[in-house]
This record gives sequence, structure tokens and C-alpha cells, in this order.
Amino acid sequence: MVQLINGKKVANDLNLETKKRVIRLKKQDVTPGLAVVIVGDDPASQRYVRSKEKKAKELGIFSIKRALPESVTQSELVQIVKDLNHDDRINGILVQSPLPDHIDEEQIIATIDPKKDVDGFHPVNVGKLFLNLKGHYPVACTPKGIMTLLAKYKINLDGKNIVVVGRSSIVGKPMLALMLNADATVIDVHSHTDDISKYTKHADIVISAVGKYAILNDDDFKPGAVVIDVGQNMDENGKLAGDVAYKAKSDNIEFITPVPGGVGPMTIATLMQQTVDMCEWSKK
Ligand code: GUN
Repeated sequence: MVQLINGKKVANDLNLETKKRVIRLKKQDVTPGLAVVIVGDDPASQRYVRSKEKKAKELGIFSIKRALPESVTQSELVQIVKDLNHDDRINGILVQSPLPDHIDEEQIIATIDPKKDVDGFHPVNVGKLFLNLKGHYPVACTPKGIMTLLAKYKINLDGKNIVVVGRSSIVGKPMLALMLNADATVIDVHSHTDDISKYTKHADIVISAVGKYAILNDDDFKPGAVVIDVGQNMDENGKLAGDVAYKAKSDNIEFITPVPGGVGPMTIATLMQQTVDMCEWSKK
């Protein structure tokens, strides 16, 4: 029988912890602050941003939203980020991706003060992660949340064979770095890999961040595999589903994160945790 990894429960516990930390900070007259910048009206992005705002409010985190029309110019967006860099109420700045085609996203991310880069996307923070530098710096929230989940379920990573499917800057690449830093043996497979299942079949842990329903199924894993499904897709019935199609009686998968209720809630909980972390780091 497949055992489900309850991301919702772990996220709730983490949120409770974050809420307590916010209360402690407020007693010292400090309120953590998050700014979310969204461009255009893509429904999925709007939904994510709404849930981030709602969670911030629930936890007592100050939040502001800068909602901009699709027609915003590069220089206007750069200026908005610069203003937030200098806004003392704000500890974390998140620019919701994707941005419209006429915007140079790399330049926008590079404009964020690395000390306020709550997504961990700035090249300075990505570099620190890949070098496994000591000290405090933000890390991309989805992979960081996955590390928290695996730790909660006491899943050992040292020397384990890990296959990451996908190589995005948001999930795949930072996931690789975190796993390497945790002493795992890591392989990344992607759209140019000839036979993805050749690799996943030998993996102790597979992390799939592709965004294509049923790109993997039971037969693609070895017995006892742990599967982390980052996909947010629609299945053939229009229901939210991950990258992995599996049977409850899978012979191979031992643990899997369900979609919904697995990785998704952890991403938002980690964003809130990291906003509070960055507030605390900024005081030192
Ligand atoms: N779009 C999809 N995931 C993310 C994320 O984690 N951060 C931002 N900024 N945009 C996203």
C-alpha cells in the first residue's frame, strides 16, 4: 500500500510555529513584512498570490500587494522593486513568475536586494546555495519545503540515489543543490533525456517537477521508492493532479506526496517561515 506524505499537516504545524514567532517579534515591536508583485491577470498566478496574502494575514505577517497591468514597462517594474528594497516595513519581496514576454525577468530578479529575496532566486543566493556556504540566506521555497517534509518523515538522504525530473530555476536546480548539500547522489533528468524511466527505476527518491500529468507511473519506480510530486496539472477529468499516476496498491511506491495536499501547502508555509527568518536575520 502506498503511504501518503501529509504535506498539509506538516505545513499546518510549520504555520503554527511561524505564527508563534511572529507574536514573539511583535512583542519587540517588530512585524515581519512581505511584498508580492504580480503582473497581468493569469488566473493561476492570481490564485497563488491570493493564497499567499491570506496566509500572511492569518499568521500576523504584514503584507502588501503590487498588482500591475500586463502593459507595465521594464523600467516601471524595476522602480517598484527598488522602492520595495528601501521600504523598511518589508523583509521579503516576491515577484510572481511568469512575467509577460516583454519583461526581462532576469533583470527584475537581479534588482531585488538579495537580503529581501524571499524566493531565493537572486544569483547571489543561488550561488551561495550551490557553494553550500555557511550563514543565513534564502532558498527557493518549494525545494526547501520538500527538505522539511523529508526530514519530518525521517527519510534519510545521505548516500541515497536521488533523481530530480526537471531543471527549472524554481524547483529542479535548487532541489539538486539541496540534495547534494545533504550528501545524496544526484541525477537530473529533463526534456532532452532519452529515457527518463531508465534513471527513475534506480532511484531511492524521485522528485518530479515537470508539470505534465502522468509523465510517470508505478512502473517507473523501484520497490520502496519515495516519490515527491511537485506537479500541479489537470487530469483527464479536469481535476487537479500531479506528474505521477499511481495505484493505491502500487508494488513500487512506498511513500508519495499527494496532489493536492502534498508539496503545495509546504511551499506557502515555507514562504511564510522564510519571511520571518529574513526579518530576524535583518535585526542581527
Ligand atoms: N511561480 C510559480 N512558483 C513560484 C514561486 O515559488 N515564486 C514565484 N515568485 N513565482 C512562482
